[in-house]
Amino acid sequence: MKRIAVLTSGGDCAGLNAVVRAVTQRAITGYGWEVFGVRQGTAGLLARPIDAEPLHISRFEGDLLRRGGTFLGTTNSGNPFDYPTNDGRRVDRSEEIIAAYRELELDALIGIGGDGSMDILRRLAQQGGLNLVGIPKTIDNDLGHTELSVGYDTAVGVATDALDHLQPTAASHSRVMVLEVMGRDAGHIALSSGIAGGADVILIPEIEYRIDSVSRKIAALRDHGRNFALVVVAEAVTTESGEPVTQRQSGGSVNYGGIGHYIAERIADVTGAETRVTVLGHVQRGGAPTPTDRLMGTAFGVHAVDLIAEGKFDHMVAWSNRQVTAIPIADAIAGYNAVDPNGSLVTTARGVGICFGDD
Ligand code: F6P
Repeated sequence: MKRIAVLTSGGDCAGLNAVVRAVTQRAITGYGWEVFGVRQGTAGLLARPIDAEPLHISRFEGDLLRRGGTFLGTTNSGNPFDYPTNDGRRVDRSEEIIAAYRELELDALIGIGGDGSMDILRRLAQQGGLNLVGIPKTIDNDLGHTELSVGYDTAVGVATDALDHLQPTAASHSRVMVLEVMGRDAGHIALSSGIAGGADVILIPEIEYRIDSVSRKIAALRDHGRNFALVVVAEAVTTESGEPVTQRQSGGSVNYGGIGHYIAERIADVTGAETRVTVLGHVQRGGAPTPTDRLMGTAFGVHAVDLIAEGKFDHMVAWSNRQVTAIPIADAIAGYNAVDPNGSLVTTARGVGICFGDD
């Protein structure tokens, strides 16, 4: 009989509860193992007493499968190798996490995270000889070697829904609506929601834009009798001079945010159109997980436990060609997945007349 733990790490997203549910069910009913849920990501393993709860199947009999967020809690700050202290120093607390793994007498740890979390967890595993299996989750869908990460589909759904809501009001007021979406350095959410939500312009960091090209598109729509336009912009798109637009958050971190306002102002300047901006923000991370995120989460959870049973560690489950596969975590981290400017979805968008600001 084995004892395993699972933690959610980095920014939350919809579908995480489905993953933890699948891990628990597979480990208990499939193998008769014990499962612990670590609270607040690696912070739970830094806490003393260790902040973890035994997970039982009964924990999931309610609506957790259907709920967004992570009932375990998570954190996207407090890197244990570079941990901020109250007096402003940075200290290495990695050995405390390794000690917690030993104190819980774990045989393996499942880390559900994006590239940043995978990197930290892998370093911990290598340093302490921990048996680690990874599960990809990120609304940004930027992890390498997996076609999907948990949370992405829900985020695309929320952004598409936003365009559905913006179109009637744009048409009623003859406005250009600019929707700023998340995605960190990748334009996947903008591209997919823009196509699904009928955008006229999609701006992503992978394709350099010029505002005069965007303006020409809006003028052409007008010439054809259209009185509104929908523009989706990914948060990492820069100003025309290449400056990223960021915001300092409480707690000191600096995130992307605000490019939508810049683009809206520039469109208004050049075209004379009335513009409005919606910054979708964390709405994209919440909400009920879509069927795809529940499905991916469940498939990943089951297969991650099976990897432990096989003794195949330092691997992350991935989705490829309609199958769950396992890839070395190092490859997932190294193989960053940006939008391919020559890929099928960009071609699709161009094929339906969507402008990327580059023609
Ligand atoms: O990586 C997920 C993500 O939601 C990004 O798309 C976004 O830039 C960032 O996290 C926001 O982080 P925070 O939750 O710290 O504001």
